[in-house]
Amino acid sequence: MRLHHLMLFLHLLGVIVWVGGMAFAWACLRPAAGALAPPERLALWVAVLKRFFAMVWVSVALVASSGLTMLVATGFARAPLAWHAMLVSGSLMIAVFVSIWFGPWPALCAAQAGQDWAKGAAALGRIRQRVALNLLLASITLAVATLGLAFQS
Ligand code: HEM
Repeated sequence: MRLHHLMLFLHLLGVIVWVGGMAFAWACLRPAAGALAPPERLALWVAVLKRFFAMVWVSVALVASSGLTMLVATGFARAPLAWHAMLVSGSLMIAVFVSIWFGPWPALCAAQAGQDWAKGAAALGRIRQRVALNLLLASITLAVATLGLAFQS
């Protein structure tokens, strides 16, 4: 087994947990949780996102470190254009996640602790928008990672 294969395994493990978790939260949990009253809905989201964001940090570390290891091992100059494009779109996805972590996420926790349901709903709305943006960026990144290489070969 080459280093590349091990890195690809870790890379895809991180991608599946991160992107799959976002898709589940956005397309399944969000519409179902809409039926709850604001206090229960916000408490549910805080409990869910607390666990999920911890998993995202691990996934981000795996995706970025394995991706960069494969790039460096091949050499930036020799790497296909699709890999460079993946570095850009993957970095954008990480930046969006970090913006949630330092922005609407602490605002949601504070609103829930202070029982300010209006502020909590607003913070949750901002998280939802950024997760939707990251799902779009993930689709582009996946297309770049797979179709992009096909076009170059
Ligand atoms: C820091 C950002 C990233 C870097 C530097 C990076 C780099 C790489 C590299 C060098 C490969 C190996 C390609 C090959 O063996 O042909 C790879 C594979 C892959 N990456 Fe990324 N990546 C990043 C982020 C992402 C993200 C965020 C996603 C998904 C949303 C993603 C999805 C994939 C997929 C599906 C493959 C497998 C492609 C294949 O084997 O054909 N990557 N990545």
